[in-house]
Parts: sequence; C-alpha cells; structure tokens
Amino acid sequence: MVGVDQVLEKLSTVIDPDLKKDIVSMGMIKDLELNDNNLKFTLELTTPACPFNVEIEDDVRKAIGELKELKNFDMKVTAKVMEGRSLDADTSMATVKNIIGVASGKGGVGKSTVSLNLALALQQTGAKVGLLDADIYGPSIPLMLGMKSGHMEVEDNKLQPAKYNGLQVVSFGFFAEQSHQAAIYRGPIISGILKQFLVDTNWSDLDYLIVDLPPGTGDIPLTLAQTIPITGILVVTTPQDVASNVAVKAISMFEKLNVPIIGVVENMSHFICPSCNDKHYIFGDGGAQKISEQFKIPFLGEIPLNSGIMSGSDLGKPIMITSPDSPSAIAFRTSAKNIAAQCSILAAKMQDEMKSAETPEDTPKTN
Ligand SMILES: Nc1ncnc2c1ncn2[C@@H]1O[C@H](COP(=O)(O)OP(=O)(O)O)[C@@H](O)[C@H]1O
Ligand SMILES: [Mg+2]
Repeated sequence: MVGVDQVLEKLSTVIDPDLKKDIVSMGMIKDLELNDNNLKFTLELTTPACPFNVEIEDDVRKAIGELKELKNFDMKVTAKVMEGRSLDADTSMATVKNIIGVASGKGGVGKSTVSLNLALALQQTGAKVGLLDADIYGPSIPLMLGMKSGHMEVEDNKLQPAKYNGLQVVSFGFFAEQSHQAAIYRGPIISGILKQFLVDTNWSDLDYLIVDLPPGTGDIPLTLAQTIPITGILVVTTPQDVASNVAVKAISMFEKLNVPIIGVVENMSHFICPSCNDKHYIFGDGGAQKISEQFKIPFLGEIPLNSGIMSGSDLGKPIMITSPDSPSAIAFRTSAKNIAAQCSILAAKMQDEMKSAETPEDTPKTN
C-alpha cells in the first residue's frame, strides 16, 4: 500500500522552475487524500499566469506515475496568487496582493499602453486585476478604454472603481472637469490625490494592481514608493530611450528608495513585416537587454511596433480585446506571464526574509 510519505517524497522531486523550490515545501499541495491506493489532491500554483504551469503539472503526473501501486489519481489544478507585499504593516490596502508600478524615464514610450494591455493580459489568465491611472497630469486610460467621465462613484467615503469587463479602473480622467485643472496643481495636492486613489478606493480582492505612473522621477512615483509597500516597479523602455539613458535615472531612483525592480519591458521594440513575418529591429537591437544586464534586473519581454495598437487606443479598443491572437497581444501575454512569475519570486523571497526575521536566535535547536 502506498503511504502519504511516499507520495510527498515523489512530489518533492518536482521543482518550480521560477521559485527554484520543490512544490511540497512551497505549500502548493493541498487537500491531499490517500485511501486504499486512491490518491487525490489539489495543486495550487502561485499565479494563474505561471509560465510553467503545464510543465509543473506534467512533472507532477510523471512523479506520481512512478508509484505503480496507485489505483486512481485525481488532481485538481488551481492558482492562488502569493502576496508580493507586506500586508501586516498596511491594513489599508489589505485586499490587494500585489502592486506593480509601471515607470519610464520619459513620456511617449507607451507606458499607458503597456499598463493597460498587461492588465488585460493578466486578467485573461484568470487573475483579478485593477488598473490605477496615476498620471494625474495627463490621464489617458479612460480614453484608451472608450470610457467617458462619471464612471466612478463615492460610497461610504470610498471610491468605487469603474469596471471594464471586470477590470477595476481608477483614473483622474473620470473627473473630467477637475482633470483639466490638473496642470495647475502642485506637488502636495497631486500626492494627496494619488494617496486617496490608492488607499480610499474600494478595491475588491485584487491579485494585481497595475499603477500607470507618469514619466520620470517626480512627486507621483515618489508618493507611490513611500505611501504603501508595493511589490515592485516595472520599467518600460523603447530602443531610443536606452540610447539616451533616461530609463537609467528612473531605475536608480527606485533602487535608492529600496523599491524592488520587477524587470524591464521594451516597447516598440521591432516591426514585424506583415508579408514576410520577419522581425525588423529598426531602432536597434538589444537595448532593454543591455539595461537588464547593467542593473541585473530581469528582461521580461518585447512588444512590437504595431499601428493597430495606436488606432485601437485612439478608438478606445485595446488590442488585447480586439485582436487577442495578433503578435502584439501574444507579446503582451508573454510579458504578463513573466511579470506574474517575477511577482511570485519576489513574494517567496519576502516570505523567506520574514521567516528568518521571526526566528529568534536563541530558539533551541531540535537536533
Ligand atoms: N507598440 C506600439 N506600437 C504602436 N504604437 C504604440 C505602441 N505603444 C504605444 N503606442 C502609441 O504611442 C503613443 C504613446 O503611448 P502611451 O501609452 O500614451 O505612452 P506613455 O504613457 O508612455 O506616454 C500612443 O499613441 C500609443 O497608441
Ligand atoms: Mg501615459
């Protein structure tokens, strides 16, 4: 008869390629039942967007397949996103597991486009996602979603996010009248608006909140880094951006503030020829890769230049919805999976750090 210890031993041989740890010690095996050689359990992945979920599932089946005495094996696969930020110190946004700030050195690199399409790509994997347009001076998300003003309401002193196919969206652009005035607002007022959008919003159970930051290193990115614990910053660059070194400034600021950098995505990276399908790196090749090497931060994807992205944004129809099979949508999906994987890695690292901080040095050793 097969014992639970044998099952766990086999399962311990399966390693999550991102987290580099075995699935048993990561707590990914749940509800295990073993009766008379009938085995049943749930495999709980760390994100529905895990790039290796098929691989892990296959490895589990192979490992269990080696237990020849088993009569039946029934596995359910689910995903529960790990908390990539410390929630103890921060009860005000306890319903948000991960906050990802999207930053760039300068404007026009496609930060809003990338934020929005990544949010939709994450959502399409089954995750619960919110999008906060923190570009208070130039909110663009409502237009890109074809949503007019007046979608956000206040209930019990809390902002209710607007909804776009289940995506929870908050933007200063929904307050059409005030947003015209934004240019005259100064630092403290702008910071106050962002704080309210973060903390005084009724975000309901989000796996990922994407925050589209304004370009550069001004008050808003600083406020985000200092108001609440966040999972990390995603840096968007273009090939030209790399040449002019502007992305580097933004990365350096967040590093100084001790905010983790999730990685870098290169937008408008290449052009895919519609007739021959070849990739043309018209602005030069390997820029984001260089930044990734220089700062030792992960390179998470490259988004092609595509006129459909621009016209879709102008018409309020994001490419993830209108052309989910296009090369651009596929590129967003790949980047989203890599980002989710990095969030799980950061979450695991944080949990390890918390555990080692909790273990007092004078705890008697058991062996
Ligand atoms: N990959 C892309 N291909 C084609 N056009 C793009 C792409 N990414 C962004 N754009 C266009 O570039 C312009 C600037 O993008 P936007 O997301 O507003 O930049 P940012 O938020 O960094 O200022 C927009 O017109 C947008 O539609
Ligand atoms: Mg923008």
